[in-house]
Amino acid sequence: MPSLKMFTGEKIPLEMHKVRIVQKLRLIPIEDRLKAITEAGNNTFLLQNCDVFLDMLTDSGVNAMSDHQLASMITVDDAYAGSATFTRLANKLTEIFGTKYFLPAHQGRACEHILAKAYVTAGSVVPTNFHFTTTKAHITACGGSVEEVLIDEGLKTTSTCPFKGNSDISKLRASIAKHGARKIPFVRLEAGTNLVGGQPFSLENMKEVRKVCDEFGLILVLDASLLQDNLYFIKTREQSCRNKTIREITREIADLCDIIYFSARKLGAARGGGIITNSEKAYKTMRHLVPMFEGFLTYGGMSVREMEAMAVGLEETMDEEVINQGPQFIEYMVNELDRKGIPVVTPAGGLGCHLDATRFIPHVPQVEYPAGALAAAMYIAGAVRGMERGTMSEQRNPDGSERLSEMELLRLALPRRVFTLSQVKYAIDRITWLYQNRGLIGGLRFIEEPPVLRFFFGRLDPVSDWQTMLAAKFRADLGDSL
Ligand code: F0G
Repeated sequence: MPSLKMFTGEKIPLEMHKVRIVQKLRLIPIEDRLKAITEAGNNTFLLQNCDVFLDMLTDSGVNAMSDHQLASMITVDDAYAGSATFTRLANKLTEIFGTKYFLPAHQGRACEHILAKAYVTAGSVVPTNFHFTTTKAHITACGGSVEEVLIDEGLKTTSTCPFKGNSDISKLRASIAKHGARKIPFVRLEAGTNLVGGQPFSLENMKEVRKVCDEFGLILVLDASLLQDNLYFIKTREQSCRNKTIREITREIADLCDIIYFSARKLGAARGGGIITNSEKAYKTMRHLVPMFEGFLTYGGMSVREMEAMAVGLEETMDEEVINQGPQFIEYMVNELDRKGIPVVTPAGGLGCHLDATRFIPHVPQVEYPAGALAAAMYIAGAVRGMERGTMSEQRNPDGSERLSEMELLRLALPRRVFTLSQVKYAIDRITWLYQNRGLIGGLRFIEEPPVLRFFFGRLDPVSDWQTMLAAKFRADLGDSL
């Protein structure tokens, strides 16, 4: 809250909303947490939510909805074809992004599926600031590959660079020179670059990418799933945008793109997704795939209730006081941990707080999945569920060897407007305890490893009895506390 000053000088993010619906939480004792994580194969995706106190797995589909969103879900038109709900949503997208065409899909990866099916063929190369897991899976499933053109600073976990999601224009040019524009079906930009810690790109950098695309006649695709955080960072960190409204910045971004797709589980705080464009050609290239894989063109696999909520959510995204909550809570958490010397990704990004497992537990080798091990340890320490974003989230090389990730992060997502400051403080406390006891944390090894997107349902064992020792130390330090 830039204009709010506490008399005591304390810096806290202040909630500009009040809670009117709540969900009761349960915090089970550490012995039960140890049992639960073992039963879940040390994979936080496989935990039962009833065993989780703070669910920081993701911000996807779990953001708090507003009263207006909930109210909008009552009056819907559930016609299979030509529903008024669809028209309301399509009109809202046109109003905000200035795009004529809208292809609905049930979530972000469904948009990626359609895009990849329509544009990617064997040998295609997609330059991108940074890949996302599902994007890469769809591109490679169609025989293509992704090539990252992120600035070097983007992969440094500690930095003061305000736009670590920027593309390195010389890397982009080199990629085009190496493969030839004909092999490049599109260039992809990801707002709020997920896998490097929710880091934004600047509007200026995006304009430079656009220029290169124009020079080589390339299509520019924006993954706008995390656009809201990126918008906030452009507004607050990019000098030339200080006086622009969120709506104006959004429109400038949209005008630079040929195709935009998004997961509405993030953008719009509902559940769904879509592809928008001003190009009739692009629309017609993809249109037939929607009824084939998603649903008819006026619902695309989404519930009409969610579509109504999305239209309202998108409008609310244009309000800086709505979208600043996530980044400001994350900044609080990141700065508190950083102050204690606990390794986190800096500067604070969107989506969540990212612990740097490489520096947190340097004694755990990458082949023993330090970020996955830290995720398991975090759950044991505090029933806080985070997500591994490291080597486990990679696919093995074609020869079966591990593709070691550039970063080993434990992501603690802060779904928007869901947690209170005291819950965030609790998480900080348990992370601090874990850091004091980091020497006890050991690695993991797969006992069941699916070939694709293995992090979703793979099962692992600890390489030693480190988890039992960690739980015993917790008891010794914290007595009978939960
Ligand atoms: N693109 C980005 C940047 C994402 O973060 C996600 C999802 C997707 C695409 C896919 O969208 O889930 O609706 O199919 N990210 C979630 C996460 C899963 O937890 O980070 P989806």
